Amino acid sequence: MFLVISVSGIGANWGTQTSHPLSPTTVVQMLKDNGFQKAKIFDAEEGTMSALKKSGLEVMVGIPNDMLATLATSSKAAADWVSKNVSSYISDGVNIRYVAVGNEPFLQTYNGSFLQTTFPSLQNIQRALIKAGLSSQVKATVPLNADVYQSPSGRPSDGDFRTDIHDLMLAIVKFLSDNAAPFTVNIYPFISLYSDPNFPVDYAFFDGNASPVVDGSTTYTNMFDANHDTLVWALKKNGFANLPVIIGEIGWPTDGDVNANIQYAQRFNQGFMNHISTGQGTPMRPGPIDAYLFSLIDEDEKSIQPGNFERHWGIFTYDGLPKYQLNLAGTTANSRGLVRAKNVKYLDKKWCVLKPSANLDDSRIAPSISYACGNADCTCLGFKTSCGNLDARGNISYAFNNYYQKNDQDDVACGFSNLATITNMDPTTGTCRFGIMIEVDSGFSWKMRQIRKREAALPLLVFLQLFLTLF
Ligand SMILES: *[C@@H]1O[C@H](CO)[C@@H](O)[C@H](O)[C@H]1NC(C)=O
Ligand SMILES: *[C@@H]1O[C@H](CO)[C@@H](O)[C@H](O)[C@H]1NC(C)=O
Ligand SMILES: *[C@@H]1O[C@H](CO)[C@@H](O)[C@H](O)[C@H]1NC(C)=O
Repeated sequence: MFLVISVSGIGANWGTQTSHPLSPTTVVQMLKDNGFQKAKIFDAEEGTMSALKKSGLEVMVGIPNDMLATLATSSKAAADWVSKNVSSYISDGVNIRYVAVGNEPFLQTYNGSFLQTTFPSLQNIQRALIKAGLSSQVKATVPLNADVYQSPSGRPSDGDFRTDIHDLMLAIVKFLSDNAAPFTVNIYPFISLYSDPNFPVDYAFFDGNASPVVDGSTTYTNMFDANHDTLVWALKKNGFANLPVIIGEIGWPTDGDVNANIQYAQRFNQGFMNHISTGQGTPMRPGPIDAYLFSLIDEDEKSIQPGNFERHWGIFTYDGLPKYQLNLAGTTANSRGLVRAKNVKYLDKKWCVLKPSANLDDSRIAPSISYACGNADCTCLGFKTSCGNLDARGNISYAFNNYYQKNDQDDVACGFSNLATITNMDPTTGTCRFGIMIEVDSGFSWKMRQIRKREAALPLLVFLQLFLTLF
């Protein structure tokens, strides 16, 4: 089934910040059907871990940042974490290879919140792995954002770790090296383009004609290679030229920003696949590249504080449909393109829309939209997004429907002061998809259901209160 060419297999990030997750068994099947060999997850939830048993997939389990404070100060907590979330699952047949301690803990937006706790947590987890007899099989690492290093000149050979965390980075790097563990970094040319309007678009891709960055005798024609090699230079300069590097996240979003679209996402991800398929690596690190795509599936509950694109990183939609064709590196499993998720159950074919008779000047419309968008997801509305061409009525219907679907098509969630109505006619037009929500496997996320029921009850409560006041 799998024909490994010259890469060590491609991995996928499997995030679960979603209101209606596909069942873990469906996701694992999807990973296998598509020829992924590795999965990176952000915690160690029971349902996810169980589905990974005997799947053959290599797994990187994650420790969320909010656990770092505890793990940093308590070696007992670290031992318990390893015992419960590594040892026991390995006994059950989960092929755990890495523990990700924290997730991008040194992002500047965290204001240094995890600067004191990340390294001690890494040390405690490593000690616990050694005590459990797992340290040769399971490596502890810290997925870091690419801004932990920089190059003042822009040339990779001038790369070094950020001055404010230089000593900390060196301590971590030495520790990783001592324990034969890899450096894990997330590289995002999209973010560079998003945050700098003057960033040369073509340089973000692998087939572009951007003017190259010349570094001595080396010419860089794409940002990935240059960024990766800035890290390699930083490591080399500090005495760790051979520390292995894993690309923990790489990808491109499809919606929510003018540069987040299907065309660019396909161009970037396919370009990256082709790039690593050659096995030639980067100028500073010839050889296979170990990488995890970000991301497998869209997540409708990710924070949009970094930008509206955050909920659209998936190569698959929330319901497991491929967004575009992509031939993954190192596999022929999907030579006919990406394979959709199997056994997905949808709710009824119905949508919530603005009543045709509603007046656009109605003063209740604006608060209804804010309510819907505040509690559901309107990041497909906006300039140059997939639903950016809707007219005013379409916009309102999109917001209403998204809220209605997120609340499992509960009639109460299609009220909006009597401005909304339920229809059997799919309002989807062009690139703008009016989705139907999927059923959530009840055994798996009863907790999420309870939360959603409470949310759905909210408008009803408001209505009841109003009713009682009036009568
Ligand atoms: C194991 O991981 C889960 C999911 O991240 C977490 O909730 C739990 O606290 C962990 N167990 C221990 C003993 O730390
Ligand atoms: C970081 O600081 C800024 C400005 O003081 C604040 O707005 C933000 O909420 C802080 N973020 C965190 C994660 O503490
Ligand atoms: C639809 O909504 C988007 C995003 O809120 C807005 O930019 C656009 O102007 C709206 N279009 C119309 C026709 O109201």
